[in-house]
Amino acid sequence: MSLAAAPDDRSEEPSDLSELVVETRRLLLRRPSCEDAEALALLANDVHLAENLGNLPHPYGIDDARVFIENTEVNATRVNFGIYLKHADRAEFVGTISLMPRDGEKFTIGYWIGRRYWGDGLATEAARAMVDMAFQRLNAPAVAGAARVTNGASRRVMEKCGFQYVGQGMGPSLFLRGMVPVDRFRLERRVWQSLKEWREASFNDLLQADA
Ligand SMILES: CC(C)(COP(=O)(O)OP(=O)(O)OC[C@H]1O[C@@H](n2cnc3c(N)ncnc32)[C@H](O)[C@@H]1OP(=O)(O)O)[C@@H](O)C(=O)NCCC(=O)NCCS
Repeated sequence: MSLAAAPDDRSEEPSDLSELVVETRRLLLRRPSCEDAEALALLANDVHLAENLGNLPHPYGIDDARVFIENTEVNATRVNFGIYLKHADRAEFVGTISLMPRDGEKFTIGYWIGRRYWGDGLATEAARAMVDMAFQRLNAPAVAGAARVTNGASRRVMEKCGFQYVGQGMGPSLFLRGMVPVDRFRLERRVWQSLKEWREASFNDLLQADA
């Protein structure tokens, strides 16, 4: 089954999601396979990822990649997707994105992109599609997120997806072997719906008023 990120709110009962593929303009999001282990290990073995993620081992080797892939799930409560850049003849693994219950929230988003692909809008494109999927397919009441207070890029990704800052807290850091201060964000279903409606509604009204 594939799901292009659609602008409307078409909530459905979660069904079998194991084969779900989410497609955006440049990306595919789907459960990773064992063929991705080498690319995953290569990209994930990066201190710039480990210092910003809660539980990424560092150094990160092929065995870590295999264990991660084996434990991925795609169901109504937990989604672990690989992020793939679409090419004419193949899909290139560039990162991961997930939704999972955490800190009392039903759906918390987490993501990383391999460093060589940073700065091209890929995380924002993937996160927007994941958020749409959470509201449209998983009936999420809200999607939450957290970023280290030093992580301006991740904060910006969430802001660009419509998340609102809800305060600071502490989150785990496997890399630093302890807890670190994090900024917490949340996107409520009603705010997401409103953002989806905003663009078309306000501009059309202005055109009609001028006519
Ligand atoms: C955070 C991360 C996923 C962003 O990936 P990306 O594909 O480069 O993100 P995008 O290009 O979609 O957007 C990044 C935005 O942050 C901005 N940015 C980059 N570095 C920044 C910084 N230090 N401070 C503030 N903003 C920053 C970019 O300018 C861009 O915003 P813009 O489009 O308004 O210019 C990537 O840096 C990463 O994987 N980091 C390590 C892991 C991580 O932090 N994951 C998130 C854990 S909460």
